[in-house]
Amino acid sequence: MVRLFAALATSVALVNAATEVKLPVPTLTKDFHLECDLNPKLSLGSGPGDTLWNWISFTGGTWNATWGNGTIELGGHDYQYVLPALAAKLDTRYLLKTADKTPAYIQIKTDGWRTGPPDVLQALNDPLRADDVDPSTYKFRLYINMNTGDPRYNHVNTTMWVASGMRKGAKVIYDAYRLG
Ligand SMILES: *[C@@H]1O[C@H](CO)[C@@H](O)[C@H](O)[C@H]1NC(C)=O
Ligand SMILES: *[C@@H]1O[C@H](CO)[C@@H](O)[C@H](O)[C@H]1NC(C)=O
Ligand SMILES: *[C@@H]1O[C@H](CO)[C@@H](O)[C@H](O)[C@H]1NC(C)=O
Repeated sequence: MVRLFAALATSVALVNAATEVKLPVPTLTKDFHLECDLNPKLSLGSGPGDTLWNWISFTGGTWNATWGNGTIELGGHDYQYVLPALAAKLDTRYLLKTADKTPAYIQIKTDGWRTGPPDVLQALNDPLRADDVDPSTYKFRLYINMNTGDPRYNHVNTTMWVASGMRKGAKVIYDAYRLG
């Protein structure tokens, strides 16, 4: 029993010491720009609690990073659910192809939220008005990670990004920032 208390006291001391360590503040460095071409969204109908489910497939696109550039392959998608207040949760998976003579393929996965005032989100959902919505009036943010087995690009496997995006016509456009 005494030993157990001694062990607990030691671990509390360690936790206290850890909270005093100065940890580095992550940095953000602009790293790539991406433009993805979308098919019209398909509604999968409603989910629990008046949510709506959408499926948006991707037909192509381009990207340009500090470490390379290339195109987006046909066949990615966004699986989206929209809350009653119109905030949308985004969940995408697609494939980047590099511009190299022998291209590399990089899987990219993004998770995010598009939030904002209801009238702005209403306008974004309306194809006739969506293009005129100023991207600074809503918050479209993504977390991004990538995977490839190609040794030329294996640094992407362990890099994390966050991005700020917008909807423009049949495109999603975003700038991604590397977390350092
Ligand atoms: C993208 O390409 C242009 C040249 O077309 C270049 O000036 C720019 O720096 C590139 N952006 C990134 C993030 O590498
Ligand atoms: C894309 O990458 C290729 C090499 O892989 C390079 O020749 C070309 O200039 C790059 N284009 C842009 C827009 O950065
Ligand atoms: C990252 O890239 C290397 C290839 O260089 C691969 O062997 C490894 O499995 C990749 N890691 C992940 C988590 O995908």
